[in-house]
Amino acid sequence: MNYTFAQYRESADALQAKLGGFRPKVAMILGSGLGYLGDLVEDAVVVPYGEIPHFKHSTAPGHKGQLVFGRLAGQPVAVMQGRVHHYEGYSYEEVSYGVRVLRLLGCDTLFVTNAAGGVNWKFQAGDLMLITDHIKIFMESPLWGENIPEFGPRFPDASYLYTPRLQELARQQARRLDMDLKEGVYMYFPGPQYETPAEVRMARILGADAVGMSTAPEVITAGHCGMEVLGFTLVSNMAAGVLPKKLSEEEVLEAAAAARDRFSSLVLACLEHLN
Ligand code: 6GU
Repeated sequence: MNYTFAQYRESADALQAKLGGFRPKVAMILGSGLGYLGDLVEDAVVVPYGEIPHFKHSTAPGHKGQLVFGRLAGQPVAVMQGRVHHYEGYSYEEVSYGVRVLRLLGCDTLFVTNAAGGVNWKFQAGDLMLITDHIKIFMESPLWGENIPEFGPRFPDASYLYTPRLQELARQQARRLDMDLKEGVYMYFPGPQYETPAEVRMARILGADAVGMSTAPEVITAGHCGMEVLGFTLVSNMAAGVLPKKLSEEEVLEAAAAARDRFSSLVLACLEHLN
């Protein structure tokens, strides 16, 4: 099934009616453990996904399902507290629905974070990684189906999906905060099972530094409709086969909690210095 432009419009209009004249600039999709940044939004208007026409609910652990509008680090933001994932049973179009709605509301920038498994031998659990590019070769595109030209072209360029000037901003802010910021390529896997050690070796050969189950669909959609993107990965654990132990969901959530303050201070610094 494909959404129509009218449906995106309907969602945006329903939200705008709740927002009065407020116009968000930065859309934020916050992964495991960072959703609490939504709680720091000032003059917040909170809208549960269930109240937005055509919006899908999130069921993943550590994810709330609501949009928070207001000011964060001086910027007008729209924070998606909780994202939906393909592995929950949603199409890629549904997964990135919110991005287009927030674009219609005025957002021209997307900040996106996730927790992922470390593939690069030089990484360790707890590292923060600036996403410089991604690989998404499995499953179809979120742009599958009839193109909606109001959002962008049929064959969008993907040379600079992760906006170079925002990458530079992140490096600058990490230096200023005296924070170690790794960089690398995020490789998308549909999940929900973690990768096998063989798949992780494959990912490494292909040029991946981290593997995860989110972000790439939303970023493709954001790039298509002309948004600038800044993405960060928390390396919550090393991917399968890197260390001689099994992976667990608890480990991911614990790492996210432990990295929370460091991670959020970097994200907030980037927001504050965004122009
Ligand atoms: Cl190892 N793989 C994937 N796909 N997602 C993850 C992960 C690994 N660790 C946290 N999230």
